[in-house]
Order: sequence, then C-alpha cells, then structure tokens
Amino acid sequence: MKKGIYPGSFDPVTNGHLDIIHRGAKICDKLIVSVLNNPNKKSLFSVEERVNMIKESTKEYDNVEVNYFSGLLINYAEEQRADVIIKGLRAVSDFEYEFQMALMNKKLSEKVETIFLMTSSNNSYLSSSLLKEVAKFGGCIEGLVPDSVKEAVYNKLK
Ligand code: PNS
Repeated sequence: MKKGIYPGSFDPVTNGHLDIIHRGAKICDKLIVSVLNNPNKKSLFSVEERVNMIKESTKEYDNVEVNYFSGLLINYAEEQRADVIIKGLRAVSDFEYEFQMALMNKKLSEKVETIFLMTSSNNSYLSSSLLKEVAKFGGCIEGLVPDSVKEAVYNKLK
C-alpha cells in the first residue's frame, strides 16, 4: 500500500494542482493532499477555506484525503507513515529550490522518497500567485481554476 503526500500552499488550488492530484492518485493507493498552515505567510484564503476548496474539487476520488499540517513536512510525512512526497515541477525555475528541498528532506528521513511529476504543458505557466494577480486587476481566470474556486477568488478580492 503506497501512501503519498502532496503538500503545498494551495492559495488557491488551481487546475495545475488538480492535474497533479489526478495523476498522483493513480500512482498512490492513498494520496493525502495537505495544506501548509503557515501563520507567517500572508494568504488570500484561510487554511480551512483552502482545505474545503480542495475537498470540493477532489470529491470524485475515493483515495484522496485533504488535510493540513504545520511545521516540517518530513515530520508530518513520517507521522502519516507516507512512502512518498509528490511534487509538481513546472519550469526549470522550480527545479533548484525543489531539488534543495528534496535533498534536505532525504537527509532528514531516509524513509520518505520525493517524486516529481512534470506539469502538463497547458498548465506550465500557471501559479496561484499569478492567477490572484490577474484576478485582482480584473483579468479572466476562466479555465485556470475550477468554477467554484473562480467565484471564491473574485468574492475575496471584491
Ligand atoms: O505550494 P508551495 O508554497 O510551493 O509549497 C511549499 C511547501 C509547503 C511544500 C514547502 O514550503 C514545505 O514543505 N514547507 C514545510 C516546512 C518544511 O518542511 N521546510 C523544510 C523543507 S526542506
């Protein structure tokens, strides 16, 4: 039974994240999507709102659970007895930091592997921060996030 954790800020969840969840859920018997609870980082949505948006967008998956964590990811992964951490990789610009984190997590625990899934090409430019900026200035975010998330973003930014 392979258990995976897909961690992130998910502020908010995008179609790029959902693509990784869809593919991660095929690789793992169970996939925990976990939102980082970081009170030091200013976010548009609360942790509860982010968890609920992901739950709503992933309700068709029987093997996906949505949760949140605080502190070190590797400690959470060990607590959950996860085998792998799943990460999405977009452009080369993601690589350096992700590589550093994967090596640090491996140093902290030999037990948990990090697996990278290359983003699908249609999502390679997509990020939560960019879409919030586009929405903030009245741009169209149709097709970048699920419809329920789109409404939530516009309502928050009103
Ligand atoms: O969606 P993001 O913001 O790119 O996600 C980054 C995240 C949450 C995966 C990363 O910041 C993280 O793992 N934070 C938890 C704290 C931690 O473990 N830091 C040391 C990493 S080696």
